[in-house]
Amino acid sequence: MARILVVDDEDGIREILKDILQDEGHQVAEAQNGQEALELFAEGFFDLVFLDVWLPGMGGLEVLEKIMSRNSELPVIMISGHARIEQAVRAVKMGAYDFIEKPLSLDRIVLAVSKALEFRAIKKENKALKNSLFIEDNLIGESEPMLRVREKIEQAARVESRVLILGENGTGKELVAREIHLRSARAEKPFIEVNCAAIPDTLIESELFGHEKGAFTGAVAQRKGKWEMAHEGTLFLDEIGDLSLPAQAKVLRAVQEGQFMRVGGQESIRVDVRILAATNKDLASEVKEGRFREDLFYRLDVLQIMVPALRERVEDIPKLMTYFLEKFAAREKRPRLVLSPEACDVLKEHPWPGNVRELKNVCERLVVCVDESPITADQVRANLQNFLLEKKNDLSSAFEGMSLNDAKNALEKMMILGALEHSKGNLSKAAQSLGLYPSALHVKLKKLGIEKS
Ligand SMILES: Nc1ncnc2c1ncn2[C@@H]1O[C@H](COP(=O)(O)OP(=O)(O)OP(=O)(O)O)[C@@H](O)[C@H]1O
Ligand SMILES: [Mg+2]
Repeated sequence: MARILVVDDEDGIREILKDILQDEGHQVAEAQNGQEALELFAEGFFDLVFLDVWLPGMGGLEVLEKIMSRNSELPVIMISGHARIEQAVRAVKMGAYDFIEKPLSLDRIVLAVSKALEFRAIKKENKALKNSLFIEDNLIGESEPMLRVREKIEQAARVESRVLILGENGTGKELVAREIHLRSARAEKPFIEVNCAAIPDTLIESELFGHEKGAFTGAVAQRKGKWEMAHEGTLFLDEIGDLSLPAQAKVLRAVQEGQFMRVGGQESIRVDVRILAATNKDLASEVKEGRFREDLFYRLDVLQIMVPALRERVEDIPKLMTYFLEKFAAREKRPRLVLSPEACDVLKEHPWPGNVRELKNVCERLVVCVDESPITADQVRANLQNFLLEKKNDLSSAFEGMSLNDAKNALEKMMILGALEHSKGNLSKAAQSLGLYPSALHVKLKKLGIEKS
């Protein structure tokens, strides 16, 4: 059963179409003119539209253009009187799926509808397939805590509620968000991610809600925001805990009202978006400290998924290692490696401050450095970045007499230089191993006065 919108000013035509379409088991909404059609379109969701070329007031082509700009995938079948064939042809060039001439014939309509819906289904399927390619890794892990995470993903995928995903750096929060989207009814629609930590405060509003041409210096053209791009899909607000208080107020309003205005815009835009949010901060205590709005917290924290740290699920380590070792071996066309039992023990004792991301990096290094299987405990130790662990004893003495800030900078510098050395100066690789975005690493390099060479 499909939801079909019929737009025609002639009662008779709407009546005929409605009868035929309902007989075929579809749900039909009607509009007498363009204005009405766009209102219905803004409120509800349709799989197919019948649109008269000639409409009083706003013409059919203009309505078509507006519909296409909102949802270019939607099949629109133009209905045209004999004298208006040229316009119908133009409509097809503008993106309409098909046109039907008046007087309407039953067979023609039934055929056009089934073709259009089939076309839409194929497009949907393609999209879902394409979206699934955006999953970087399969979600690995059968430990008790991960089974609970999987259950929660299933549960979250079945409903439309907002989900707050919590967990340390590199535990797989983003992977969880993508899994929820892909298993949900919105799978073939966009999954749009906003990294709240990476966007400067001055740009966040335009990034989220878009802007009109001329809204501010540099706004040379109208631009859609991420919220609008996520229409009918999922919006993933990553690192939500890093959003400034003023930005939180704007997000709250959009979440509450389901609508917003572009920066410099007059018109309120209504979208259907499912929101997932993630952070590695303890949001509840951020609320207590006054750094995160309580009302926004409760809006986002409807379902909660806590992704456990890797050290809390050491049973998953061998499977994760196998998965990544194979993945990188295939990519680098290197021999497949297995772990010796002793190597496994070393891995299980490591504290994994960088969680799965750190483990993934270790595997990448092992694949490149080790030629012979099985991997020994020593080879694993050599490739673990247990800088802090080894240095634990002389760590405090190394920073003796320094202010906390200087010590922090010195430590940061040491880790960054270490990572750069490891990656042979490759900035994005170094950033990855540090769990930073390349842009953030760049900023740090500047701040710490580290030369690129
Ligand atoms: N259970 C898992 N199975 C396989 N791969 C995983 C798993 N968890 C995480 N990964 C991989 O580890 C890396 C880090 O995961 P992800 O980016 O989802 O973490 P995150 O929690 O969002 O981290 P951050 O807080 O630093 O943004 C990614 O490459 C991801 O594909
Ligand atoms: Mg993340």
